[in-house]
Amino acid sequence: MQNKNDIGVLGLGAMGQNLALNFASKGLTVSVYNRLEANEERVLADFVSKYKNQGHFIGFTDLETFIDSISEPRKIFMMLKAGQALEEVINKISPFLKEGDVLIDGGNSHYIDTDRRVKKLRKHGVGFIGCGLSGGTFGALNGPCLMPGGDKKSWSNVKDILQSIAAKDEEGNFSCEWIGPGGSGHFVKMVHNGIEYSLMQIIAETYDFLIKAVLMSNQEVLSVFRQWNEGELSSYLVGITCEVLSLEEGDGRPLIENVLDIVKQKGTGKDIAICALEHGVVVSTITEAVNARYISGMEKSRANINRSKKAINKNNNLSKGNKEITILSLVDSLYCANVISIIQGLKLIQKVSKANSWDIDISKILNVWAHGSIIQSKILQDMNNQFKRNSLDEILIEKINQSRIENLILIVSLATQNQIPFHVYSAALSYYQALSSSNLPANLIQLQREYFGSHGFEKKTSIGKLSHIGRSDT
Ligand code: 6PG
Repeated sequence: MQNKNDIGVLGLGAMGQNLALNFASKGLTVSVYNRLEANEERVLADFVSKYKNQGHFIGFTDLETFIDSISEPRKIFMMLKAGQALEEVINKISPFLKEGDVLIDGGNSHYIDTDRRVKKLRKHGVGFIGCGLSGGTFGALNGPCLMPGGDKKSWSNVKDILQSIAAKDEEGNFSCEWIGPGGSGHFVKMVHNGIEYSLMQIIAETYDFLIKAVLMSNQEVLSVFRQWNEGELSSYLVGITCEVLSLEEGDGRPLIENVLDIVKQKGTGKDIAICALEHGVVVSTITEAVNARYISGMEKSRANINRSKKAINKNNNLSKGNKEITILSLVDSLYCANVISIIQGLKLIQKVSKANSWDIDISKILNVWAHGSIIQSKILQDMNNQFKRNSLDEILIEKINQSRIENLILIVSLATQNQIPFHVYSAALSYYQALSSSNLPANLIQLQREYFGSHGFEKKTSIGKLSHIGRSDT
């Protein structure tokens, strides 16, 4: 084959197709590969014929000829489902790769898998980059947020290409910066997704609160969210919430009223919760967002317990003036829950980065997330400006000031009185209250552990041992 292409895109799902189009729009020639399986026979041919006027695409269903069509050192962007399918493809193409070639995994792979792949391929001189990618199908086409990490030597070969397709800020800074070695790129994407889960759940809880405690209509909630999206609460997620809340059924009723209240997940939220527990870092807002999704799927239990529930008095008889005050308090509460969620995620990055000697620069992460990502928001941008001068604790102290926390307490109490499940808001409040408390009941737990297990306990001045009768040795 004579004229080889600049880059290969492997996997033509919606994300892969849009990335291929994005690369082509930057003047790159693109080899595209898709497997030939029963329900995917037409995908490749359709893509190449549909977009032939939008770029130079050549399609392949054979891995060896696909690899051979890319100019050396080859750059191959894989956009495949994480897990076994990806592992198989990597094993199949590895024999055709040469020293200096670079494989980029743009999916949501687990960072431990990425770490292993970086090491394995390095032995053959092939660079492996785990590239967290955020922004959905729109971002893939128009400018995603990219979080590349792995084989640093390969970065200089792919930096320009990856930055060319990424989102940019007003000053032209790319939402694509080198994160660090090993699985660090995918690790940061996993934390991004955990924050994404939590921010989505906060918005959902707010929606529920406005409907059930403030007794607003869907249209009224929509106008509140629209107003918020103009100020300090403005974010990609609040913006798309306005979009989906304005969708209507054929009969003019809001679509949301006809949507099942059960939500699934692909697993990155669960992965961060497990990772945080293993590293002894609290990401309770994220874990609670994952739990909320699981509870939504507990259909049978939900139906049983709901049937047996006796009516409890609610406190939703707010006067007009009180409604306005409540909405103002909600602004502060939303702000607090967002900040605490992001800080919990960032603290996990700090801890795991240190444990792995990745040396991840938090300010760089905040810059990268600020555009193109699902969690981009005004709050995140403000935190970034502040992080340049302050620690995460200092940011927490400054952002969660007295009046904001009082409002969060008020809103959590009102939600409780109205029997509204407030997974993330409550977790955020407990986290803050525990951190800001001068003493915790952990002293009692110390003595209980010592009593039944002789675990010892620390006194304020020395180490103690209980010696009274009645102590059990179990
Ligand atoms: C992004 C998203 C994306 C993720 C989906 C689905 O940043 O573009 O994080 O990568 O795959 O949001 O996640 P769940 O199915 O787990 O909700």
